[in-house]
Amino acid sequence: MEVYWYVFYVDGQYPWHASKTRHVDRRYLKALGATIDASGFHGALVATGAGGGWDPWVISSTLAAHTERMRFLIAVHPSLLSPTLLAKQALTFDHLSGGRLDINIVNGHAGLGAAGVHLQHDERYAHGAEYLDVYRRVIGGAPGPIDFQGKYLDIRGGQPVGKPIQSPYPPIWIGGSSDVAMDLAVAHGDVYASWAEPLDKHAAHIAAFRSAAAKKGRKVQTAMTVHVVVRDTEAQAWAEVDTMLKYADQSAVDALQRGLRAGQSVGQERASSLHGGRLPKHARDLEISPNVWAGYGLLRVGSSITLVGTPQQVAARLIEYHDAGVDKFILSHHPLPEEALRIADDLLPLLPLSPVDPQREAAERTARTFNNQLNGVGVRT
Ligand SMILES: Cc1cc2nc3c(=O)[nH]c(=O)nc-3n(C[C@H](O)[C@H](O)[C@H](O)COP(=O)(O)O)c2cc1C
Repeated sequence: MEVYWYVFYVDGQYPWHASKTRHVDRRYLKALGATIDASGFHGALVATGAGGGWDPWVISSTLAAHTERMRFLIAVHPSLLSPTLLAKQALTFDHLSGGRLDINIVNGHAGLGAAGVHLQHDERYAHGAEYLDVYRRVIGGAPGPIDFQGKYLDIRGGQPVGKPIQSPYPPIWIGGSSDVAMDLAVAHGDVYASWAEPLDKHAAHIAAFRSAAAKKGRKVQTAMTVHVVVRDTEAQAWAEVDTMLKYADQSAVDALQRGLRAGQSVGQERASSLHGGRLPKHARDLEISPNVWAGYGLLRVGSSITLVGTPQQVAARLIEYHDAGVDKFILSHHPLPEEALRIADDLLPLLPLSPVDPQREAAERTARTFNNQLNGVGVRT
């Protein structure tokens, strides 16, 4: 099992409420990176908004310079970046980070219209397939010049960019829950990533994906994003979820849900169907099975599922998903640095983790320096 954490430029204790966000800057992100680097995490997902916000390549480049072993799973919207430029960026980042790049291909939602992309859901994935065809040739050592004529892309005289450190190229993850997302992952992915669903549904989803991959003779690993609230006692963990809800109000929930409904995302529809769009009186009203809360989608885009409980309980739930076929996990909870430390201390030692890369000692030295500085921003020590 591999566990990734989460890096984002919006953070705070309850970042869906303006009074509980934090100022995030270079020093803050360096501290977050150092924490991830020093622990049992394999790396972090560095997400991107479809519209505005900070760029994940720039964030990752900054953190790569201050870390030794964490991997960077960088989100890429194919419709926002040419495949030849992606190959150049990936080659450069892979070399300068010492082979620590994973690419996360996300095909986004209707919000891409703000960036001038008006492709419909299935077209975005069809475009993504052509895109990866070109990208893999440009970065994978195909002899040039590379010509490609498709429905969306017309490449003439493309130049191979040279050899990345990782062979044949940095792993390609494909995110999404729809059938076309699975098709794209079967055709082009090294890892297929989807948002957590209730265990039985997730297990069926992974089984369907594996069988589709096997029919094409492909072995593709699977990954799942899930939110985690871990405290020493179960009562404390649920109290934290109740507090999360105190910083939400129904009008903000309604506005978020309206935006999500317009987004043409199968994964999002499934996530939203679990909570019905109304803030519950008590957090546990949305506990759909032991330690599984379906209310996170009221607050944020993405999966609604949150695992809630003691370290032992949350570890047991994660191991059930692992047994159902999930190879890699992307976990998160805010504030990201403090919760990364908590999860590293309390949860990771209970999980059957695959070994991490060997430069750990140097990473720990760097992290000790940053953790000392972190006291200044109130990080748990
Ligand atoms: C692991 C994972 C990470 C994602 N990261 C991003 C992201 O950084 N930015 C973004 O706009 N969408 C992100 N998405 C959402 C996808 O772009 C897409 O909207 C979503 O998966 C729905 O696709 P579907 O209709 O195939 O289910 C992510 C999805 C997954 C599964």
